[in-house]
Amino acid sequence: MIETLESLRVATAKALGHLDEPHLEADLLIGHVLDLTRSQMWARHDQSVTCEHQQAVWNLIEKRRRGVPAAYLIGKKGFWDNDFYVTPETLIPRPETELLVETILARSDNEARSVVDLGTGSGAIAISLAKARPQWHVIATDCMPGAIEIAQQNANQVGNIDWLIADWLTAFRQGCFDIIVANPPYIDETDPHLDDLVYEPRSALVSGNGGFADLNEIMTSAKSALKPNGYLIVEHGFNQQTAVENGLRKAGLYTQALKDLSGQPRAVIATLGA
Ligand SMILES: C[S@@+](CC[C@H](N)C(=O)[O-])C[C@H]1O[C@@H](n2cnc3c(N)ncnc32)[C@H](O)[C@@H]1O
Repeated sequence: MIETLESLRVATAKALGHLDEPHLEADLLIGHVLDLTRSQMWARHDQSVTCEHQQAVWNLIEKRRRGVPAAYLIGKKGFWDNDFYVTPETLIPRPETELLVETILARSDNEARSVVDLGTGSGAIAISLAKARPQWHVIATDCMPGAIEIAQQNANQVGNIDWLIADWLTAFRQGCFDIIVANPPYIDETDPHLDDLVYEPRSALVSGNGGFADLNEIMTSAKSALKPNGYLIVEHGFNQQTAVENGLRKAGLYTQALKDLSGQPRAVIATLGA
């Protein structure tokens, strides 16, 4: 019979031993049930845990073992410097997508800017940028009304974002953005990795034309939506960079390729001039 927080942590990590980071995942689930941070759990390791709480943790373990992502079980995921609510209607924001936020902030000054985040999902990119640059006007779009609702909840007190249900850039006039950022669906529908992603919305992951349909649409329409000194930054799959650079050059843009923190080709910046 498990009695203390520490023994529950050990048993949970063991039950999740097939995952990459069983101790971290165990602490996420237990912390969610007991409403404790990791450091609070360490400090209270010999505290006893009620049967109800133990049962609630085991219910989550069972779902996690069936493959439900931890972020959906606890309802949130950390991205940049905030936690974001996520539901099965929103993609779980990935650490590699922080490259887009990091690159945009590193390239920016304090001038007012007009920015659009295409396919905002949980709002992770738009909200991170809007919070870091209160003088910017950010428009966050998605084709899924449910995603926009969650993103609006995540925005809470952030006032410099407008929300729009829209199909990529079709709603916008020419030459209106300093920065266009997009992390579109880019996985080919036959990619075997999709077997591990069944709980996330297919509309956020899969794109036709071998994974390029949405990338192509954004690449061909970005040039006319940019202001003269503006740029597009777009995330893509690790094996899509050459094709994305070629597509952007064909659309009349100059490109710069970027790698993510694990060294994978992950994004391209495209400008009107070299
Ligand atoms: C890979 S997810 C990215 C979510 C979020 N930006 C992030 O980085 O975590 C792609 C998003 O694009 C949205 N999307 C798919 N097709 C779209 C379209 N035609 N127009 C606008 N958004 C679209 C999906 O609903 C989804 O939220």
